Amino acid sequence: MIEAKNIYKSFAELEVLSDVSFTVNQGEVISVIGPSGSGKSTLLRCLIGLEAIDSGEIYIEGLSVKKAGRKAYQKMGMVFQGFNLFPHKTVLGNLIEAPIVVNGEDKKEVKKRAEALLEKVGLYDKKDAYPSQLSGGQKQRVAIARALAMQPDIMLFDEPTSSLDPELVGEVLTVIRDLADENITMMVVTHEMSFAQDVSDRVFFMDHGKIISDSVPEKIFVNPDSTRIQNFLTKILSQNDGSL
Ligand SMILES: Nc1ncnc2c1ncn2[C@@H]1O[C@H](COP(=O)(O)OP(=O)(O)OP(=O)(O)O)[C@@H](O)[C@H]1O
Ligand SMILES: [Mg+2]
Repeated sequence: MIEAKNIYKSFAELEVLSDVSFTVNQGEVISVIGPSGSGKSTLLRCLIGLEAIDSGEIYIEGLSVKKAGRKAYQKMGMVFQGFNLFPHKTVLGNLIEAPIVVNGEDKKEVKKRAEALLEKVGLYDKKDAYPSQLSGGQKQRVAIARALAMQPDIMLFDEPTSSLDPELVGEVLTVIRDLADENITMMVVTHEMSFAQDVSDRVFFMDHGKIISDSVPEKIFVNPDSTRIQNFLTKILSQNDGSL
């Protein structure tokens, strides 16, 4: 579904991605963890074309993003830390905007699909509300439904719960877990280690612009072989009262 080959990305003098290569297969859930500034967000932003890479190749479902451009990026949806909803549109309006305007789809059909998605994330009763009338967790669930309304094959999440109050994290993670069960291909940047451990097929550990470990969760969480990973986990655990 995704193939990245030798990606490099710098901001001025700062090399943020340094020879990053990986593949993600159909239906896999990849968690991306690692210290602040290690390049996690930049990696996702490069995959979906929000940042241009300096060199290397990215293929999305076999399409080279260099050659296919928008057509390749269209296969992906992304959810950010902040909710980025359109404030002047209702919840339903947020969901149907892009499929109608960008894809030129039929309004009636899009509406039906959008309503089903709102049902799925538990927010059908909020379809006529405006974003300002929603809690953080509800906004983030709308943001997820909005990305899904474009019917992506791949979903990218960049710390989808890190701007939420602790009691709202669970409802958003539940929605993401449900998606994982539906076999949507996903890459999730997260600091939620128990989520990463339970839900992922593989975990990428990033440090200084490189994926220094690409392995099954047990390997990272139960038996980490690098001191950098051990130190990172110790630090995260101490922030979370010792629980994964
Ligand atoms: N648009 C930009 N211009 C200049 N530097 C940038 C830009 N975006 C990111 N950086 C720098 O690139 C490095 C990697 O940033 P990135 O946001 O990818 O890290 P991250 O792993 O997502 O960190 P965090 O866990 O804090 O979100 C950082 O040093 C950051 O300051
Ligand atoms: Mg980030």
